[in-house]
Formats: sequence, C-alpha cells, structure tokens
Amino acid sequence: MSVESVVQAVYLVAAVLFVLSLAGLSKQETARRGVLLGMTGMGLALVATIALALDRSERPVGVTAALILFVLLVGAAVGTWRARTVEMTQMPELIALLHSFVGAAAVLVGFGSYLTDPGSGGSTGGADGAGGTVHLVEVFLGVLIGAVTFTGSVVAFGKLSARLRSSPLLLPGRNWLNLAALVACGALLWWFLTAGESGLVPLLLMTLVALALGWHLVAAIGGGDMPVVVSMLNSYSGWAAAAAGFMLGNDLLIITGALVGSSGAILSYLMCRAMNRSFVSVILGGYGTGTGVVAQGAPAEQGTYRETTALEVADRLTAARSVIVVPGYGMAVAKAQYPVADLVARLTARGTTVRFGIHPVAGRLPGHMNVLLAEAKVPYDQVLGMDEINDDFGDTDVVLVIGANDTVNPAAQDDPASPIAGMPVLEVWEAREVVVFKRSMATGYAGVQNPLFFRENTAMLFGDAKDQVELIVQAL
Ligand code: TAP
Repeated sequence: MSVESVVQAVYLVAAVLFVLSLAGLSKQETARRGVLLGMTGMGLALVATIALALDRSERPVGVTAALILFVLLVGAAVGTWRARTVEMTQMPELIALLHSFVGAAAVLVGFGSYLTDPGSGGSTGGADGAGGTVHLVEVFLGVLIGAVTFTGSVVAFGKLSARLRSSPLLLPGRNWLNLAALVACGALLWWFLTAGESGLVPLLLMTLVALALGWHLVAAIGGGDMPVVVSMLNSYSGWAAAAAGFMLGNDLLIITGALVGSSGAILSYLMCRAMNRSFVSVILGGYGTGTGVVAQGAPAEQGTYRETTALEVADRLTAARSVIVVPGYGMAVAKAQYPVADLVARLTARGTTVRFGIHPVAGRLPGHMNVLLAEAKVPYDQVLGMDEINDDFGDTDVVLVIGANDTVNPAAQDDPASPIAGMPVLEVWEAREVVVFKRSMATGYAGVQNPLFFRENTAMLFGDAKDQVELIVQAL
C-alpha cells in the first residue's frame, strides 16, 4: 500500500473525529470528550501530513524532517506559552489573533502555489486549460479571503485588547467603498485569469485591495458588536483554510475549513439573535456609535439606589427558599466563580433551591459563564439558559446578580430609544429581591445606565465580587 493511500485513509478518520468533536462540544457534559476527539483527529492529521511531506520530499528526507520539526517546536512552544498565560477574559483577543494566522497562511499558500506554477492558467491553453483556470480561481479566492481575514482579525485583536479605539470608523459612503473594493477584485480576477504568466501584478494588487477591505470592514464595527465579528472572522478563517485545501489538493483541509466556516457562521447567527441584531447590520457596521466601550464613563444617574452589606445579604439568603444566581462579566474579572460555587453548594445543602441563569452573551465570549462555572465544578443541572429560567424569576425569593449589567437591563424591554432596545434580557426584577454585586455605579459593556439599580426591590452590594461573596460565605 502506498503512503498516499494510507494518508488518505487517515485523513478520513481524522475528518470523522472532527465531526464527532463538534457534536461533543455542543453539550457541556460531553465537551471534554469532544475536545479529546478533536485533539486525536488533529494529531493524526499532523502525523499523516508529515509522512506525506517526507514521502514527496525532493530534498534529502532528513533536511525536510528537520525543517518540519523546527517549525513544529517553535509553534508548539509559542502556543503552549500563550495558552497557559492567557486570562479567560482575554480569550476573544487571542482567538482574533489566531484567526489572523489562518488568514496569513492562506495568503502565503496562495502566493506559494501560484509562484510554483504560474502558467497553469487558461491562457496557456492545452489540455490542462480548464483545470488550470480552476486552480487560478482557487488561488485568487484563497488569497482574497485570507487577506480580508488577516487584516480584519488584526483590527479585531487591536480593538478587543484596547490597542485600537473600539468606536466604529465611519468613513463617508463606507458601504460604497466596500462595494467598490469588491468590484475592483472582480476586475482584477479577470486580468489575473487572462494575464498568463504575468499574473503576479493583478494578484498583488488584489491582495492590497483585500487587505484594505478587511481592515475597513472591521474598523467600521463598534465595540458592542465585536463578539459577533470574532465569530464571523472565525467563519472567514474556515473558508480561507478550505480555499488553501483546494489549492494544495488536501481533502482534510477542505473538510476542516468547511466545518469551521459553517460553525462560525451558525454561531454568528445565534449571537446576533441573542443580541437582537440583524447579521447584515452587524456586517455593514456603524452600530455602536452611542454604545460600546465608547460611551462608558458617563453614566446618567436615574434616581436613588439602596446599598446593602454582605451580612444583610447572608440573612436574606438564610431566609430564602429559592435563589437564582445571574453571573456576568464582573464575575469573570473578579474570579469569583470559586466562592460563588461554594456559596451555592452551602445553600443547596441547607435545602434552598439554587440555580444559575445564564444569558447567551454574558461575559465576553460565547459560553464564558458556563466555562467558569464548570471550572468551579458547579453541577451542570444547576446551570440553566435564559429561555429555560426566564419564567421562574417571579417565584424566586432572591436573585444575586454577580457582575452582570447589560444582560439584566430592563431598558432593553421598556425603552425603545435605548441602544440595547430589543435585546432579550434576564427578567431578574420580577423576583422578590435583587442584589447587584458591582464595584460602582459604572455602566456595563454597552455603556448604558441600568434602571434595575434604582428599582425598589434592588439593593446594591458594592465591592469586588469575590471579596463580597467570601464575606457572605463567612457570615453563613
Ligand atoms: P457587562 O454589561 O459588561 O457588565 C459587567 C459589570 O461587571 C460591570 O457593570 C462592572 O461594574 C462589573 N464588574 C467588573 N469587575 C467587577 C468586579 N471585580 N467585581 C464586581 N463587579 C465587577 O456584563 P454582562 O451583563 O455579562 O454583559 C455582557 C456584555 O458584553 C453585553 O453587552 C454583551 O453584548 C457584550 N459582549 C458579549 C460577548 C459575548 S459573546 N459573551 C463578547 C463581547 C461583548 P463596575 O465597574 O461598577 O464594577
């Protein structure tokens, strides 16, 4: 049996493992297995690809092996270091940065593929004319998607890590500029296909246009929409990888790219739905002018609020029969998940019904709260999604809002002029008593004041969420 056919068989197994991995990742209980299946698939794919590279090597096998080993070691060292040091709250920016690598790789593969065989286009005629044209289109699209993904991800990284301003860049006629860039790429594709062996010029010009397009597309999107942008770039990076798979004739890369591309697109859609935003309006940008991190720091006070203490909250909790904990970004910042899990375990042991209510966009990345709670070993059956728990607040004695703000803002329902109007929120105010844990009266991510804080049944517990929850645990 040839190396080639063994490799193809291994690729098939790896592709099945990737599909099973995604299926596993769709539920908390099976997520660990999903990750393990994905890692096994990726391990197999790497071994098979290296075997193929060594088999096809035109240099002495030892040199190729040493080169591959070198880049693997560098990549693994940097990857391990980053994965170990990254804070959970920095995850979106790390993901954005990783997407930029996929984009850059697709651009480099495209240029490599073209420079190795520039004359395989239709203009050279011959038997491989049609196949050659297909290859050229693959190269062109791969470089185009890769370049858009690259600069788009770099800007997303810059905005998420606060290296760039997160307010949207609003150039006059920005949608026309995007359209003009696409039309220019269409014209350059025509030039590229008919240019024969001198197609490098249109390819380079298109790369410049695509780099500018990616930059502009993401620069035009405001802070509040960045999570959707990251998952959209995730989707683009998948299509860029699939395009690289076509260029390299690598079926596994095509399958993996398509899996990433479509799952990223589905995730973007689900997130848009959770924030009540249309996908097209997110892509076209401009939203978030009055929202996002931009508007922070200027909270408009809306009446008086009531303060409480950890001791008082402990008393209320002792008397309560049912409690719902609503965590948000502040719980992640304070790393309060461990004392929160402890508090919930103690209350549950006393016979109180305690559950968690999780908003789909709580925190800064999809599933952020679920990951933190799983880390703190909170039983999965106590963790409910917004749709599962929203009707139960009316029958609840105490709601602990721990570092959540936008996701519990009644203005989303009551105030059509609010920048977050229409976003589904957790209706915590329906409970008998609400305790909000935060450090000040500052606004949340969307930069809008929260009328919940001024309601009669709401009490504010100021201070770092971790310290306050620890005080409550002590008092209990
Ligand atoms: P946010 O609205 O961002 O509010 C978090 C609150 O936590 C802040 O009001 C802050 O108030 C408080 N806080 C911060 N550090 C704290 C600490 N150490 N101790 C106690 N409180 C602390 O949170 P959310 O309700 O989770 O909403 C998420 C927002 O982020 C939404 O607008 C969403 O659209 C957006 N977003 C979501 C994602 C995804 S995919 N989940 C990604 C990016 C953006 P103080 O400063 O007064 O303490």
